[in-house]
Amino acid sequence: MLKISLEQLEFHQKKRQQLMAFLPDNSLVIVSSGEELIRNRDVEFPFRVDSDFMYLTGFEEPDSVLVLVKKSTEESHLFVRAKDPEQETWQGRRLGVLAAPDTLRLDCAHEIDGLDEGVLTLLEGVESVYVSFSHSLELLGTVHGWIQALKEKVRKGGDAPKQVCDLDVYLHEMRVIKSEFEVQSLRKAATISVQGHLAAMKSVQSSVFEFQVQAELEAEFLRLGSPRVAFNSIVASGKNACILHYTENRSEIKKDDLVLVDAGAEWQGYAGDITTTFPASGRFNSEQALLYTLVLAAQQAAIDAIKPNETYDVAHQAAIKVLTQGLLDLGLLQGDLDTALKEESYKRFFMHGTGHWLGMDVHDVGVYKQNQSWRVFKAGMVVTVEPGLYISEEHQDVDEKWHNIGIRIEDDILVTPSGGEVLTTGLPRTVEEIETWMRQYRQNVNSEGF
Ligand code: GLY
Ligand code: MN
Ligand code: MN
Repeated sequence: MLKISLEQLEFHQKKRQQLMAFLPDNSLVIVSSGEELIRNRDVEFPFRVDSDFMYLTGFEEPDSVLVLVKKSTEESHLFVRAKDPEQETWQGRRLGVLAAPDTLRLDCAHEIDGLDEGVLTLLEGVESVYVSFSHSLELLGTVHGWIQALKEKVRKGGDAPKQVCDLDVYLHEMRVIKSEFEVQSLRKAATISVQGHLAAMKSVQSSVFEFQVQAELEAEFLRLGSPRVAFNSIVASGKNACILHYTENRSEIKKDDLVLVDAGAEWQGYAGDITTTFPASGRFNSEQALLYTLVLAAQQAAIDAIKPNETYDVAHQAAIKVLTQGLLDLGLLQGDLDTALKEESYKRFFMHGTGHWLGMDVHDVGVYKQNQSWRVFKAGMVVTVEPGLYISEEHQDVDEKWHNIGIRIEDDILVTPSGGEVLTTGLPRTVEEIETWMRQYRQNVNSEGF
């Protein structure tokens, strides 16, 4: 049966109320849970409910639709799959119409098969319909169909909504600032993610494959109660670490490789997102150590810049300044700092942003700029800070001693009233800490120290 804590129920109820307070009278909001996707024949891909729907309900079944109505009163309606003993025997339990209102603190529940008829009734007297413009066109098409059906009745004295508006403008802005329940969930996701990364570091030994490290990482997530990964785990050794979204995870890890693990666990719908980079042998060689130390310094500079009223761009500029100066010092870039920054020559080796919003989606919703200016941080925002350096064989003008080194260091940061709090603590981070930790904790080290 669906287990949902009182605190969680109160959170979702409050979010529905907050959303409705933003909207004018005679509005109706529609949010869909999404549907299962067929992988082949009668096998589905694992289902993960839509984040907006989860945010407003806490309910995770597919084929469900939330309708919020604001007329002279406010009402919440949920359309769900009907109870069906045979289907439930084959495919799993369903909450059903009878249990849904009390379990989820909603006003009414209806069978999903009656969605068209039910929404057409609820649309009576509604002037504005709010639906996400960033989701599939299908729902927008359905809304259009309902409005067309109502317009046909206008001649007979009926009425139809006059506008369809983008729900994201309100809902996604709400999601940017986390409330206490969300921060607790993100803390837990961060804690589990840290434990998974430690398990991954422990498991590296001679002739291990990337997928075996992935197995240890994800087993720890599951062991600690996380239902799923927040995104596909990256376990990239050697030159694979220079592929930013590498998820094949099929290569054998070699003794002299750095291993880059970018992975996070999900907890109550919220994502952890951590990247660790460590030497397979337990010891960095000198080029690896130099670049690693540089990325770590850039990360620290960016984290220091995270505080209310600063912007992501300030954090990014802080990171690229450190990286660019370091690359100049190592002879990997030429010229002076100002020219190199102006020409963005660091982009050869650091080609992504310094971070992103974090929440129910790993790359969470919310705009980064408002009126073409970078928006300022506010307490309750959660961000990642993840600078990196990637030098591959393709950089043919670079001495080959630097080749096949990919480094990213990523932590999750809560903006507090006075600065930034790192949620993903507990990982060895400096070169010395990593080497000491690996000497102490790595399993089954062979006589070569690997
Ligand atoms: N794991 C995806 C990212 O760090 O952005
Ligand atoms: Mn990230
Ligand atoms: Mn990541």
